[in-house]
Amino acid sequence: MAELEDPSSFAAPDCCRTHHLHLRCRVDFESRSLRGTAALTVRAERDNLRCVVLDTKDLTIHKVVVNRQEAQFALGQHHSFKGAPLEITLPFELGKGQDVIVEVSFETSPRSSALQWFTPEQTSGKRHPFLFSQCQATHCRAVLPCQDTPAVKLTYYAEISVPNELVALMSARRDGDLPDPEESTRKIYRFIQNVPIPSYLIALVAGALESREIGPRTLVWAEKELVDKSAHEFAETEAMLKTAEDLAGPYVWGQYDLLVLPPSFPYGGMENPCLTFVTPTLLAGDRSLSNVIAHEISHSWTGNLVTNKTWEHFWLNEGHTVYLERMIGGRLFGEQFRHFQALGGWRELQNTINLLGNTNPMTKLEICLKEVDPDVAYSYVPYEKGFALLLYLEQLLGGKDIFMGFLRAYIQQFAFKSIRTEDWKNFLYAYFKDKVDVLDTVNWNAWMNAAGMPPVKPTYDTTLSNACSALCQRWIKATESNLNSFSSADIAEMSSHQHIEFLALLLLEDPLPVSHVRQMQQVYNFNAVNNSEIRFRWLRLCIQAKWEDAIPLALKMATEQGRMKFTRPLFKDLYKFDKSRDQAISVFQQHKASMHPVTEKLVAKDLGLDGQTAKPLQT
Ligand code: BES
Ligand code: ZN
Repeated sequence: MAELEDPSSFAAPDCCRTHHLHLRCRVDFESRSLRGTAALTVRAERDNLRCVVLDTKDLTIHKVVVNRQEAQFALGQHHSFKGAPLEITLPFELGKGQDVIVEVSFETSPRSSALQWFTPEQTSGKRHPFLFSQCQATHCRAVLPCQDTPAVKLTYYAEISVPNELVALMSARRDGDLPDPEESTRKIYRFIQNVPIPSYLIALVAGALESREIGPRTLVWAEKELVDKSAHEFAETEAMLKTAEDLAGPYVWGQYDLLVLPPSFPYGGMENPCLTFVTPTLLAGDRSLSNVIAHEISHSWTGNLVTNKTWEHFWLNEGHTVYLERMIGGRLFGEQFRHFQALGGWRELQNTINLLGNTNPMTKLEICLKEVDPDVAYSYVPYEKGFALLLYLEQLLGGKDIFMGFLRAYIQQFAFKSIRTEDWKNFLYAYFKDKVDVLDTVNWNAWMNAAGMPPVKPTYDTTLSNACSALCQRWIKATESNLNSFSSADIAEMSSHQHIEFLALLLLEDPLPVSHVRQMQQVYNFNAVNNSEIRFRWLRLCIQAKWEDAIPLALKMATEQGRMKFTRPLFKDLYKFDKSRDQAISVFQQHKASMHPVTEKLVAKDLGLDGQTAKPLQT
């Protein structure tokens, strides 16, 4: 069972809670640091409070001032992924409900795990430096001292100084810019976030960014080279927002902007409030990867309004968000499409559990993160096991309209709060109080606390996936002598979603003989496809088939973009193949200095280079 406090944070929200942050800082590309002050409005949660503990990671603390009085502080021992607690002794005692302003002067490390710094040469435009942050799950503490637990929600105001040529953006409404009174070569950008958010949703970017308006509340931001392509790719955003509001309730954040990051951005998307961050690997040209936008939009309710109290309940964020994402997809592209995506999710869950092992504790819905790094625990399980549970409940309780009624009520009930799985379950039972007998037929223990696949498979409409499984079966059963029965016509009528699913199904099977993948290249020419989801699965299939010609292509994709969903499996497959193992390691060594810090950490681990999981080299 998960314990009551947050195992991923040193903060003690039962002692005091931060309600507001006033951040002032200077982005310094020369020293690769943020330097400034974080003034936290902290409220005592109990009487006789003399101490405030904040999370930090690789921060230098210069000074702490409490209500204008300098205060004593000490940094505790550094923990490998949690960082170090900053223990501040208050100059006076606080009673329950009293507020103080704790102002910490700090500086980040050039190796902050939350930040990636780019030289001008590493950007598309080649003329200006670039910086972005990624705080989820536990990296906000590597940007600023804070109670870095999603149990605490705060509003913020920020003033960020950047060189004149750059634009700064944050996960907040823009509140204008002005010349920096201290340096004529700089500007200060101001931001306001009036909705209380957990620390992991604090985000910052600085770069030569341009914007295009793509909807009444949406600008898309990117470097000049990508901004028009991005505006075209994400043109469905307003339709998705309207659909989401119709499903989930009013959108409370005002603006919904999109930011397209450099290719090393480690995730598909990140739901930073008012400004979703996305990978440029979504730029397929045909809007076929827009489900990621539907997903990040959905987090505006599930995740950003209703938040997991600790990362052990991450499935609450992601499971409900995937459910909403697929409801949006269903409204816009039809119910058969919703089921196609849902079944693809089940297949993805199967794939993940095969890989992690069906007794692995990380395949449970509710997990234990005591001494476990959330970055290492990250997988599709909370997304797809969570989604499967919700789809199963939808079908058990009378269909999607009835279940959406529950989801809307759940959002209303818990908006602006942080909750645990038991809060969700109690509310489910309260909402369906007339169907308790039905709910009691659910094998809760198996769903929540057992490793491996769920105890029940929901039912899926297979109309759109039949063509994918049929073609997959043809390839599995094909012999050398009938390989010539395949032709480009096999896939000509299929959508790119179906191409993805076809390849994903093949990846669940034993590797194909190299003759088969060669022939597949002959007839389908997947080498020429730039859609990242197709290319990724195709190259994995080739490497798993031990086709040496694919090695340079796979190495190229693994390094030219850094979305961990693609980069980690590609590196792992290349490492497993004896013909590419040494290259995989040397290419990683060459690239790691310019990789995102989290990607670097996890790929090193996957390649046995982290000193802990070192595997002996095969000879
Ligand atoms: N919030 C997540 C990304 C994340 C999770 C970052 C945990 C750091 C720690 C985001 O909403 C997400 O789930 N992105 C997916 C999108 C997909 C499920 C449609 C991704 O990055 O692939
Ligand atoms: Zn998500």
